[in-house]
This record gives sequence, structure tokens and C-alpha cells, in this order.
Amino acid sequence: MPMAIAMLPLFLSLVSFYFIIANGGCSFQEKKIFKVQMLQRKQLFGNQGCILPESRKEKGAIILEMKDRGYCTKKKINWNMKLKKELMLDNLRVRSMLNRIRIKLSSHSLEQPSQIQIPLSSGINLQTLNYIVTVGLGSQNMTVIIDTGSDLTWVQCDPCMSCYNQQGPVFNPSNSISYKSILCNSSTCQSLQLTTGNTGSCEFNPSSCNYVVNYGDGSYTDGELGVEHLTFGNISMSDFVFGCGRNNKGLFGGVSGLMGLGRSNLSLISQTITSFGGVFSYCLPTTENGASGSLVIGNDSSVFKNLTPIAYTSMVSNPQLSNFYIMNLTSIDVGGVALESTSVGNGGVLIDSGTVITRLAPSVYNALKAEFLKQFSGFPSAPGLSILDTCFNLTGNEEVSIPTISMHFEDNVELNVDAAGILYMTKDASQVCLAFASLSDENDMAIIGNYQQRNQRVIYDTKQNKIGFAREECSFT
Ligand SMILES: *[C@@H]1O[C@H](CO)[C@@H](O)[C@H](O)[C@H]1NC(C)=O
Ligand SMILES: *[C@@H]1O[C@H](CO)[C@@H](O)[C@H](O)[C@H]1NC(C)=O
Ligand SMILES: *[C@@H]1O[C@H](CO)[C@@H](O)[C@H](O)[C@H]1NC(C)=O
Ligand SMILES: *[C@@H]1O[C@H](CO)[C@@H](O)[C@H](O)[C@H]1NC(C)=O
Ligand SMILES: *[C@@H]1O[C@H](CO)[C@@H](O)[C@H](O)[C@H]1NC(C)=O
Ligand SMILES: *[C@@H]1O[C@H](CO)[C@@H](O)[C@H](O)[C@H]1NC(C)=O
Ligand SMILES: *[C@@H]1O[C@H](CO)[C@@H](O)[C@H](O)[C@H]1NC(C)=O
Repeated sequence: MPMAIAMLPLFLSLVSFYFIIANGGCSFQEKKIFKVQMLQRKQLFGNQGCILPESRKEKGAIILEMKDRGYCTKKKINWNMKLKKELMLDNLRVRSMLNRIRIKLSSHSLEQPSQIQIPLSSGINLQTLNYIVTVGLGSQNMTVIIDTGSDLTWVQCDPCMSCYNQQGPVFNPSNSISYKSILCNSSTCQSLQLTTGNTGSCEFNPSSCNYVVNYGDGSYTDGELGVEHLTFGNISMSDFVFGCGRNNKGLFGGVSGLMGLGRSNLSLISQTITSFGGVFSYCLPTTENGASGSLVIGNDSSVFKNLTPIAYTSMVSNPQLSNFYIMNLTSIDVGGVALESTSVGNGGVLIDSGTVITRLAPSVYNALKAEFLKQFSGFPSAPGLSILDTCFNLTGNEEVSIPTISMHFEDNVELNVDAAGILYMTKDASQVCLAFASLSDENDMAIIGNYQQRNQRVIYDTKQNKIGFAREECSFT
């Protein structure tokens, strides 16, 4: 029987606290409170429109309000359908991402890697991306989805050959004196063509740089690159490179476009490196109750509201997967009991803002599930939902006490998953599921999804190649 000495956490907070129960005198179980009632799905969105007015500069950083994109939809949400679809699409995203990784890793062993053109930004399902922010582009405000899994920022552009419905006006470059097209023969255009695998020719139209990005779910955007003033609150930077999308298709849910927070030099983070040091962070809110979170661009940690000290883990460097954020997961514990598994990290786990549910190798997932069930007993089980196979009927409980789940990374860093990230609330309390799932192949790379990142400050330092975590109650103010 594994022996685990529980470390008494140094903090207490309103939504979660710990207590220690002696368990047969040889190990301890750590618990958190899961508020069933508070996380009941509500229809909170609807009449605000899509623009989030809030952003501000504080010390050396920009702070943008971040919301769930359900905030943009005026339709009444059918939770049953929405959640099933969300999980199905999450599965598609993970499958296309893992495919992309397999191709990249295998291309290494081939003789002529230069002949294998893999579009860097393709093969990622976008529909699961939920978090939106508003920035200024030229003189307009644009609400965009944030994505750490892609690089190019783009918005729909007038005149549009084919645009999906968005709330608010489409960006119109001809109304802006600060907008300039990128020339086809520029180095920026060449670097775009390298990153998207789009080998556009300059002979036909040397005055523009065409781009195409295909996402794995059939969504795409194409148009030309331009530069424009980008503003956050009252701070403006000129010559921000973005895609002016003339042909866009996808379920982008009423937003203007997408903000790429990946690692290549066209991403927002690389382009703002001189002002903000190549560092950004977010606090992803619980979406069930319409809470706000924040996206912070810049490295001034005094603007965070973290409740625990920030701990940094080194990113795993893998030249073949240089666009991904990869960490070294060393162990997982449930209720303070370490899982006995040798292949927890398998040489690297991906952290992604667009995958919803964390995926673990089958052996690791099975160990996690078994330990969780052992410590969370006495509740009737409920049918599984899509990729989630461990569900409970918690009807009639206002709150329940659940085992903690902690992931440990190299450099002694702990991600203590928030109670709102351990159980997945379906339409109501009669089906509440363990919010983790199994990969189909033991050798695939594990992925830390956004559900398990809730109420954490997650800091991406692309210059020092490290990722930081600290507990935070997400809010914008
Ligand atoms: C954009 O948002 C800012 C901040 O709320 C506001 O002051 C400004 O008037 C908005 N601009 C437009 C064109 O709507
Ligand atoms: C790009 O083409 C323009 C003319 O279209 C030319 O003036 C410029 O010198 C070229 N720049 C480079 C880097 O070749
Ligand atoms: C990106 O990097 C390439 C070379 O790797 C360079 O030619 C290009 O100018 C860079 N683009 C930006 C926007 O910095
Ligand atoms: C932006 O606004 C903040 C306060 O909201 C102020 O301290 C700062 O000086 C302003 N910056 C500029 C460039 O106007
Ligand atoms: C992960 O960390 C462990 C323990 O520090 C180390 O032995 C291992 O080599 C690391 N793995 C990678 C892929 O960096
Ligand atoms: C869940 O439990 C409640 C009361 O314990 C019961 O009335 C209800 O039928 C159960 N729901 C399902 C879907 O099993
Ligand atoms: C960001 O801040 C952290 C903590 O203060 C520091 O360790 C790190 O070096 C900084 N990163 C950059 C790129 O300045």
C-alpha cells in the first residue's frame, strides 16, 4: 500500500479548503469541496453583445478581460446537446493534434525532411476554443478567440468574399490610414509561407502576401497579410502583422477572428517581445457561472492576484515540436496518494488552452480513476458521457467533498487542480463526471486541457522557456 505524507497546504480559501482524514493509520487523504449547486449550468449570457469593454494597463503589463464565448451568443443554449458536442469536438481536436505530432516526430527519421511540408497551423480543431478577449485594431474594437495552439492572428476583412456571421462590424482596411499590406517579396511573407506551408507565388500579385490557414474541423481563413495599429486599452503598438481574412468559414461563434499565442515569430507574443518580454499568462474562469478571467501580456507578476507563490517548471525542448508548449510531468497524486505508474509523463506533456479535458496514457488514467473511485465512494454512479467514463449522480447534494488531484512537474512544481476542474458538470447534478480521459495509445503525448487549468495563473515565459503556475481566483477586477 502506498505511503504518502500529506503536505499541509499553506493557504485556505473560500471555495476550497482541505481537511485531513486518517486512513487506516498509514496514509492521508486530502479533500476539496465541490459546490454542486454553484456550478449548475445557467443561461447567463445573452444581451451583452460580444465586445468586452475591459482592458487596462497596470505597471508593465496589459490586462485583458477574458470570457467564455457563450457570452457572444444570444440563442438559448441546449446544454445537453452543447456539452455532448463539446466533448465530441474535443476528441477531434486531440486526434488531429496527436496526428500532427506523430507526423512531425516521424518526419525526423526520413531522409528528405525538406520535402515534407507540414502546414504548422493546420490540423487543429478550433471549435473547442472558448475564451475571448477584445483588442483594438486600427480604430475598431475586435473580439477574438485566444489560442495557444496557433500563431497567426486574423480577423474577417471587408470586402469579404465569404464571411461567417459576426457581431459588430467587420474590419475595413480601406477606412484605416494606418493599415498597410505586406509585400509578397518581404521576409515576413516568406516566414509566413514557411510556417503555413503555403508556397504562394509572387508573380501574380507582388503587392500582397496571401495566406491560408486550414483548421482540422473544416474551418479555414484565407486572405492577405497586413499591418495595423494594435491597441490594448490606451497602449498602442504599430505595424502588428495579422491576417486580413477575405474568405472565412467555421463556427467561430460571432467573434471577429482569432488571436494566436503560439511560439513562432508571427504570434502576438513574438511580435510584442520588445514591449512585453515574450511573456503572457492567463487565468481561465469557470464558465458555468459566467465568471471573467484575465489574459495578461507582460511579465509583471505584481499585477497577478495569485494566492500561492508562482512556481516555474522548465519547458521540454523538442526541435520537432517547437510550436508546442511542452512540460515534464513527473507524477500525479489523488487525495495525496501518488499514483504508481512509471509512464506518467512519457517524456513530455503538452499544455493547451484549446483542449478541454486532460488526456493521460491509458495506464495512468486507469490508475487515477481507480484511486479516485476508492476515495470518492458512496455516491450512485451515472452513465458516462462521450469521452468521460466515470460519472456520478449527485442529485440532492449541495456540495460534496472530493479527493484533490495534483500534477507534479520537473523543478518541484505542483499544479493542484481546482475543485471546478476535477469534476465535469453536465446539464445538472444527476450526471457529474471525473473530468479526465484516456488517450487511445499508451505512447501518445499526454495533454493538459483547459478544464484542469481553471482558477490558476498559468504563465508562459517564451524567453526563459519556462511555465509557471499559481493558484488564483480568476476575476478581471
Ligand atoms: C473601443 O473600446 C474602448 C474601451 O471600451 C472604447 O473607449 C472605444 O470607444 C471603443 N471604440 C469603438 C470604435 O467602439
Ligand atoms: C520587393 O518588390 C518591390 C517592387 O514590387 C521592390 O521595390 C522591392 O525592392 C522588393 N524588395 C525586396 C526585398 O526584394
Ligand atoms: C520571422 O523569422 C524569419 C526568419 O526565421 C524572418 O525572416 C522574419 O522577418 C521574421 N518575421 C517577423 C515578423 O519577425
Ligand atoms: C494609460 O492609462 C493609465 C491609467 O488607466 C495611465 O496610468 C497611463 O499613463 C496611460 N498611458 C498612456 C500611454 O496614455
Ligand atoms: C523529467 O524530469 C525527470 C526528473 O527530474 C528527469 O529525470 C527526466 O530526464 C526529465 N525528462 C525530460 C523529457 O526532460
Ligand atoms: C439521481 O438520484 C436521484 C435521487 O437520489 C433520483 O431521484 C434520480 O432518478 C437519479 N437520476 C438518474 C438520472 O439516475
Ligand atoms: C519573468 O519574471 C520571472 C519572475 O520574476 C523571472 O524569473 C523571469 O526571468 C522573467 N522573464 C523574463 C523574460 O524577463
